[in-house]
Amino acid sequence: MSPEAKPILNVSKLVKRFGGFYALDGLSFHVAPGEILGLVGPNGSGKTTAINVISGLYAPDGGEVAFDGQQIGGIASHRLVHRGINRTFQVPKPFMSLTVRENIKVALSYGRAMVAPPAINELLEQYRLAEFAERPASELNSAQQKMLDLTRALATRPRLLLLDELAAGLNPAELDWIAGHIKALAASGVAIIVVEHLMGFIEHITDRVIVLNAGKEIFEGKLAAAVKEPQVIEVFLGGEHAA
Ligand SMILES: Nc1ncnc2c1ncn2[C@@H]1O[C@H](COP(=O)(O)OP(=O)(O)OP(=O)(O)O)[C@@H](O)[C@H]1O
Ligand SMILES: [Mg+2]
Repeated sequence: MSPEAKPILNVSKLVKRFGGFYALDGLSFHVAPGEILGLVGPNGSGKTTAINVISGLYAPDGGEVAFDGQQIGGIASHRLVHRGINRTFQVPKPFMSLTVRENIKVALSYGRAMVAPPAINELLEQYRLAEFAERPASELNSAQQKMLDLTRALATRPRLLLLDELAAGLNPAELDWIAGHIKALAASGVAIIVVEHLMGFIEHITDRVIVLNAGKEIFEGKLAAAVKEPQVIEVFLGGEHAA
């Protein structure tokens, strides 16, 4: 599907506060089926908070989140999984004492009703976890835990997939490999939001980026154009380096 397709997610003037602090301060953007949208910005700019609100971990304090034309702001994560939204975590937290296969089975049991789940063995093979299938998740290294987190999300057949720093810690060959998988998922019609600090990776896989600063959008468009914007340069490099 082309990125010009009708948006599946529309975020409008989203606000999330922690006490008096605005982690999201009027954020608006959309993503369409088949599109890979990058969400970039400095540490603490609100990227994870945006994913947490969209995926139902936090209720918004203002604004709207519309998925498939329906308001979903404040609906709990497990219900949103049934509707077709799932995510990975910046710091994955698999059930450490369960095996890799059992972790995926748990996710499968939460999946979308009426939709055939993907085969577990296929997921394990695709994400290079087959040899660890019967081992406890605690034996995986952090990159493998991220892959388990992704397979857990994919087991529920998301239509909107939110990836929070999935590629951090991967080597260049692994980055190419996972980029191929993310692009293939988008080509199958999944809408994908990618949060990542690795700009080469973002440039390679995204159709478009939103640059966040202090919970607000400061740029929307291609990454190649974003890096020429003085405001974006200032936010990433600090004022004194931007000249
Ligand atoms: N549960 C929370 N309670 C209080 N403050 C929070 C909470 N979650 C996030 N924040 C604050 O909100 C701001 C945005 O955090 P967030 O994790 O969304 O940033 P981020 O863009 O994902 O950063 P990073 O690139 O470091 O992951 C930060 O100042 C953070 O300390
Ligand atoms: Mg984060």
